[in-house]
Amino acid sequence: MNLWGSSSQHPGWPTRVGPLRVAAGVVRLRAVRLRDASQWSRIRQADRAHLEPWEPSTEADWTVRHSISAWPAVFSSLRSEARKGRMLPYVIELDGEFCGQLTIGNVTHGALRSAWIGYWVSSSVTGGGVATGALALGLDHCFGPVMLHRVEATVRPENAASRAVLAKVGFREEGLLRRYLQVDGGWRDHLLVGLTVEEVYGSVTSALVRDGHASWV
Ligand code: ACO
Repeated sequence: MNLWGSSSQHPGWPTRVGPLRVAAGVVRLRAVRLRDASQWSRIRQADRAHLEPWEPSTEADWTVRHSISAWPAVFSSLRSEARKGRMLPYVIELDGEFCGQLTIGNVTHGALRSAWIGYWVSSSVTGGGVATGALALGLDHCFGPVMLHRVEATVRPENAASRAVLAKVGFREEGLLRRYLQVDGGWRDHLLVGLTVEEVYGSVTSALVRDGHASWV
């Protein structure tokens, strides 16, 4: 048992992941912290237009939901899921600074050994390979220390940037989920993409390095 309350029931948590160098700088994944409040709130408040079209809708107002004082409750709920072994809630760091989140959720072991993965990155650093690098690190972590067999993701067909990221790390499109999720005020279709460990040759990060999208630190 460690400080996060994790044990062998939750393999791979709260292990740091990376580093990997991409065009924008050095990317790492680390566990969310209570003291992430001000950076999380500052970026999420400034980036409402960048993030809201792609994220699940809630009743609560964006500004209230992303105030500094909202973070402790968000953090507690992520920590509680992580302690139960159901989630790996990571911060994406670029050159040591908070620049987004990557979350691995609905972690199931046994005969399924599956999870979903999702991410967002500050608009101030987009286009520099950060999400691609973070996703590659996250997938290798899932297929390695977390011992998963399959990882899936859902993405709106209109989200060209995220679809490019998913394709670059090797996700396969599996189908269209009609009116799947309430996003930006409506029930939106989502593409389901999946990747199983058999489809990864070596590792996802080494394939990125081989293709010139990243380099080792
Ligand atoms: N049309 C087509 N391709 C685009 C567009 C566009 N409008 N905008 C960017 N791209 C491409 C880029 O060219 C790049 O591909 P390339 O390297 O082959 O040229 C790719 O999209 C972006 O790659 P990265 O630089 O690694 O990604 P970035 O760090 O910019 O982050 C992300 C992308 C995460 C989608 C970011 O824009 C973001 O946070 N958006 C808002 C939240 C979001 O959409 N999250 C994903 C939800 S879906 C999910 O989580 C599975």
